Amino acid sequence: MARKEIKIDLLIHDLKNPLAVIQAGLSGLLSRREQYGPLTPRQERVLTRLLRNTRAAQMLTHDALELARSGEGIIVRTETPLKTMIREMLTEFFDLIDSGISEPMKSADSFADMDRIASPAGLVLAVEPSLLERSFLLDADKTRQILRNLLSNAFKYRKRQVDFAVRQDGGNLVFSVKDDGDGIPCEYHRKIFEAYFQLSAAGSDPVRGHGVGLAGALALARDLGGDLSLVSGAGCGAAFIVRLPAGCKDPA
Ligand SMILES: Nc1ncnc2c1ncn2[C@@H]1O[C@H](COP(=O)(O)OP(=O)(O)O)[C@@H](O)[C@H]1O
Ligand SMILES: [Mg+2]
Repeated sequence: MARKEIKIDLLIHDLKNPLAVIQAGLSGLLSRREQYGPLTPRQERVLTRLLRNTRAAQMLTHDALELARSGEGIIVRTETPLKTMIREMLTEFFDLIDSGISEPMKSADSFADMDRIASPAGLVLAVEPSLLERSFLLDADKTRQILRNLLSNAFKYRKRQVDFAVRQDGGNLVFSVKDDGDGIPCEYHRKIFEAYFQLSAAGSDPVRGHGVGLAGALALARDLGGDLSLVSGAGCGAAFIVRLPAGCKDPA
């Protein structure tokens, strides 16, 4: 690894400690009022927003390190119950948007519960029922990271609804994240996977921006031996399809 990359990784790594201290303090102020004292509704709102953004910063540092590990070939595949992976991924995702959704999601028992909690937020879940109770050989951390990135884009660009679906295709799991937004014109289908590429709000002119989410998601999917593709046309939403080898056998 180049010296500059190590320096950046170290910096990101060292951000974890102060962020953990901030997160613990904010959580304490919000959840242990008998110890810390009462809060006005306004203070509670501010602290809740600070906590959500601290979690977002923690997730970003985690994701950046995971991407670096992935680039070094560090893949950790374990038997992962699909339902648990999806629940954790949705909890992490909604943690960044609305704790009113992420809290009940964290303790959702069944897939029906998860769907009932997600659907008022405009997220429709469709998973082949036969897959839900099964475990697959996945790097759960990286899989969740890819899916969270796609969901956050879909929520950013959707008009009303996002569809999340999972199916099996031979030895692969195929995840799809589809929104009903303006879509992406064909001429940009390759470009949007390049780092630092963003389309303007008008959806036509490329502009310089951060745009590293999709580049990272594609790199992770490839490091995992899979792929990430896009089906979209201007005006008809965007569907991102992630295909990952999952150690599953073709159903007989
Ligand atoms: N679901 C989507 N619908 C329309 N455009 C999208 C969608 N997802 C990504 N894009 C386009 O691809 C660009 C790159 O996405 P991404 O790498 O996630 O970066 P960022 O989210 O930081 O802009 C976005 O700026 C946007 O122009
Ligand atoms: Mg993004």
